[in-house]
Amino acid sequence: MARTRGAKKDILAAADPSLPPSRVIPRPGEGETIDWASWFDLARPVEADIGCGMGRFLLARAAANPDVQYLGLELESARVVHVDVAARRAGLDNLRLLQGDAMLSLPLLPDGFLRAATVFFPDPWPKRRHWKRRLVQAPFIDAVHRVLAPGGLLHLATDQATYFESMLALLGADARFARAETLVRPPEQWTDFERLFRAKGETIGEASFRRL
Ligand SMILES: C[S@@+](CC[C@H](N)C(=O)[O-])C[C@H]1O[C@@H](n2cnc3c(N)ncnc32)[C@H](O)[C@@H]1O
Repeated sequence: MARTRGAKKDILAAADPSLPPSRVIPRPGEGETIDWASWFDLARPVEADIGCGMGRFLLARAAANPDVQYLGLELESARVVHVDVAARRAGLDNLRLLQGDAMLSLPLLPDGFLRAATVFFPDPWPKRRHWKRRLVQAPFIDAVHRVLAPGGLLHLATDQATYFESMLALLGADARFARAETLVRPPEQWTDFERLFRAKGETIGEASFRRL
């Protein structure tokens, strides 16, 4: 119920005319494309947070790096509204959002558009029979590979040991990527889920890969 109340408050706040314009990029219609130059300065780097959730990492990261532009991809529209309202209240001009399934959103990005992509604590699907629903699988890696610029980084984190093993196996066997230094983030850039896992002392798998 608290979540529903929060979502209603966010929807009301999103319509507040005293806030700066929405950072949500409308999804294009069938056969249409996004005019990326109207949303980003294409001369500056863009980084995407895939499955940004309530945006704690994305908002903190955007505030800490005003010269970098950030794109949050998120399936749940209530979460997108929440992050949008927070970004507008914080006056963050370097953050944009696109709602929808990342597997449908990534194909809308131009080749080599991103300097980095983060996938932090994707839905875990812990039961073996549900592993096929996990986001980080071969088609996702292909999609990320296309949108990363050469030298671009893919940062991954999960609390699920079997998911982490499969990420390492998938990317370790992919000649298009090389292992890179793991991204070190200050605690204010920990995600919402990460805070819960760290508070419980759970093991977190983190790894980064460079697109060759
Ligand atoms: C477990 S939450 C983690 C959120 C955030 N990264 C964090 O660590 O707090 C996973 C998020 O990914 C989103 N998600 C799941 N499948 C997705 C997909 N196919 N495309 C985009 N977002 C997705 C969910 O709606 C949810 O917000």
